[in-house]
Amino acid sequence: MQKPAVNAIEYILFNLCGNRQDMKTTPPKVATKLAEYHQEHLLQWWDELSDEQQTSLKTQIESVDFETIQRVWQESKQGSDTADTGVDRVEQAAAPGAVVLQPSSDAEETQWQHATKVGAKLLTDSKVAVITVAGGQGSRLGFAHPKGMFPIGPISNRSLFQVFAEQILARKRRHGGEIPWLIMTSSATHSETMEFFEQHNFWGLDRNTVAFFQQGSMPAVDASSGRVLMSAPDALCLSPDGHGGLVMALKTSGLLDRMASEGVEDFFYHQVDNPTVILCDTALIGLHALNNSQLTTSVVRKQYPTEPMGVLVDINDHVEIIEYSELNEAQAAGKDASGQWIFWAGNTAIHMFSLGFLEHLTSGGGQLELHVASKTVEHIDSAGNLIKPSEPNANKFERFIFDALPLASTALIVEGNRQREFNPVKNAEGNDSPATSRAALSRIAREWLANAGHTLAESAKVEISPLTALDADELANSLAAGRITVDALTKLPDAT
Ligand code: UD1
Repeated sequence: MQKPAVNAIEYILFNLCGNRQDMKTTPPKVATKLAEYHQEHLLQWWDELSDEQQTSLKTQIESVDFETIQRVWQESKQGSDTADTGVDRVEQAAAPGAVVLQPSSDAEETQWQHATKVGAKLLTDSKVAVITVAGGQGSRLGFAHPKGMFPIGPISNRSLFQVFAEQILARKRRHGGEIPWLIMTSSATHSETMEFFEQHNFWGLDRNTVAFFQQGSMPAVDASSGRVLMSAPDALCLSPDGHGGLVMALKTSGLLDRMASEGVEDFFYHQVDNPTVILCDTALIGLHALNNSQLTTSVVRKQYPTEPMGVLVDINDHVEIIEYSELNEAQAAGKDASGQWIFWAGNTAIHMFSLGFLEHLTSGGGQLELHVASKTVEHIDSAGNLIKPSEPNANKFERFIFDALPLASTALIVEGNRQREFNPVKNAEGNDSPATSRAALSRIAREWLANAGHTLAESAKVEISPLTALDADELANSLAAGRITVDALTKLPDAT
C-alpha cells in the first residue's frame, strides 16, 4: 500500500479528519487506543478493507486489553515471576502437607464410603454441574479438529465427547438428579464442536442441559518489539486465553448466574483429553463437600520426576501448582529430608470448584494472572508477506485455572487412582498418546471383567460404554442378570 508521507499518528488523525475522500474513516476510539500503545500498524491496511473486514478488525482490536498485554510483556522482558521463571517458588516449595490419600485402612475406607454417599446425594439433589475445558488447539496431538472429537474407543472409535456424554447420562440414570454440562470452547473449536454435538444428537442428552460457552482470545506479540502480530490485513494473530479464561467466560456468558439460579453449588471440572476421568466421582464430590472446600484437586503420583505434569506443593502455607515447565531436571527430582520426592503430587487437572468461590473470583474482575510463553507464530510482515519462522519469534499470553488455588481460603488435595483415572491423550505417539489411552480403556474393562469372573487374555481389546457400566460392580451385576454378555464387549457394536 502507498503510505502517506506522515508519521503513523498523523496518518490516523489525517484519516479521522476525513480529508481524503477515497479513504474510509478509521474509528476514532480505536485509533487513539492504538496510538497510545504504539500499535498503529494494526490499521495499516484499513482503507483497503471491505466494510465487513473493517468491522471484524475493529471488533478484534476492541477486544484486546493493550494495557495489560504491554505491562505483562514488559515485565517478562525484565525477568519477573510472570515470565514463569519460578525460581523462588521452586526453592520455597514443600511437598503438600495435607493430602487425602487413597484409603489403605478400614477407617479410611469408611471415610471414603461416607464421602461417596454424600457425593451421591448431592448428585440426586442436582447440586453439581460438569465443566469440560475444550478450547485448546491440541497441536501436540496433530489432530485437525477439536480434541473432543478424537476417536478414542478401542473398538467402537467413540469420541472423547461421546464418552463424557454417556458418563453423564449414566450418572443421571444412577442418581436421579440433573447434571448440567458446560463445555468451554474457543474460537478455534466452537463451531465444529457444536456441529459435532448436533450431528450426534447430543448422544441422547437433553440439549437444554448442555451449554457451550466461548473463552476469550489473546493476541500474540512480536517477542522483540511487543507489537501485536497480524495473520492477515484484517486479522490479528489471536489464540485462546488459556483455561484460566474460564472464570470470566463463565461470568460473561451468564452461565454462572444461571447455575446459581438452578441451585447448582459445585462444579466438577475436567480436561477434554482424559477418557478415563470418572465424571462426577461421588467420592471426590463428597470429600469436597465434607471439607467445605472451595477448590479441590485430584492428584496422582508422578511416574518419573520429569513427567510433564504440574505438581501440587505448599508454598508459604498456601497450596499452589508448579508447572512442569518451571522445573529443571535436578529440581524435578528433588527430595525432602525424609527422602521423599517433593514434587510427587501430579495435577490430574480434575478439580471441584464451589460456586461461591467462582463468584468470589469474578467479583474482583475475575482475571487470573497472565503467563507469557515463547512460541513460533506465523504472521504477515509490513509488506503483507507471510512469514513462517523456524524458531520462537513471538510471545503468547495465557491464564491458568490453577492460579486460583492460592486464592482459595480452603483448598483440598485428594489422591486419585492413577491407573483407573488418569490416561490422557496428549501426544501423537509415545507416552500419553491414543495408543496408551486406548490400551488403558481396554485394561480397565478387562479388570472389571476379571472381577466378575471372566479372565481375558492381556491382548484382548475390550470396550465398555459408560451406559453399560460405570464401574466393576455395575458390570458384574449386568453380567449376572444377563443384560450383557462378554462377547458383546469384545465386538462391535458395544452394547449399551
Ligand atoms: C495440563 C496442566 C498440567 C497437568 C496436565 C494433566 C496446564 C498449563 N498444565 O498440562 O498441570 O498436570 O494438564 O493432564 O494446563 N485448554 C483450553 N483452553 C486453552 C488452553 C487449554 O480449554 O486456552 C484446555 C485443553 O483443551 C485441554 C486442557 O486445557 O483440555 C489442557 O491443556 P494443555 O495445554 O494440553 O495442558 P498440558 O500441558 O497437557
